[in-house]
Amino acid sequence: TSAETFYEAVGGAETFRRLTNRFYREVAVDEILRPLYPEEDLGPAERRFRMFLEQYWGGPRTYSDERGHPRLRMRHNPFRIGPIERDAWLRCMYVAIASIEPETLDDQHRKALTDYMEMAAQSMVNAPL
Ligand code: HEM
Repeated sequence: TSAETFYEAVGGAETFRRLTNRFYREVAVDEILRPLYPEEDLGPAERRFRMFLEQYWGGPRTYSDERGHPRLRMRHNPFRIGPIERDAWLRCMYVAIASIEPETLDDQHRKALTDYMEMAAQSMVNAPL
């Protein structure tokens, strides 16, 4: 009887798993982004990102159970993120969003997700060029 969350409306865990997996497959071959990731295995980073997004969009709160308050800008301080890194990150995200079919992610949810990612990526910028 309660209002459906964005998380539920777009297909829940399965959709977030597909989105973050497609995103990280793109990061893995991106020559600007890949060197920023400290670990050789991108699996754990993919899982943290997936848990964060699930929580943000109304799904399970596993991210904060394991990591505490997100404080994402602070957690990105170790990485030099200028407009080039931001744009590379967004390119990977556009590919990931495009990989989710319209039956799962309709225009309205697609726009909400895309707008959020653009806003969030800009908010993570911590360096000029
Ligand atoms: C972690 C890069 C934007 C969410 C990381 C890490 C890197 C990184 C190198 C460390 C990987 C790891 O978890 O071990 C970037 C770059 C961005 C960007 C270059 C360009 C703008 C974003 C945005 C979001 C985000 C927009 C959210 C919408 C996260 C999360 C983590 C993370 C949740 C894990 C934090 C934790 O330790 O719990 N990012 N990121 N990132 N990023 Fe980003």
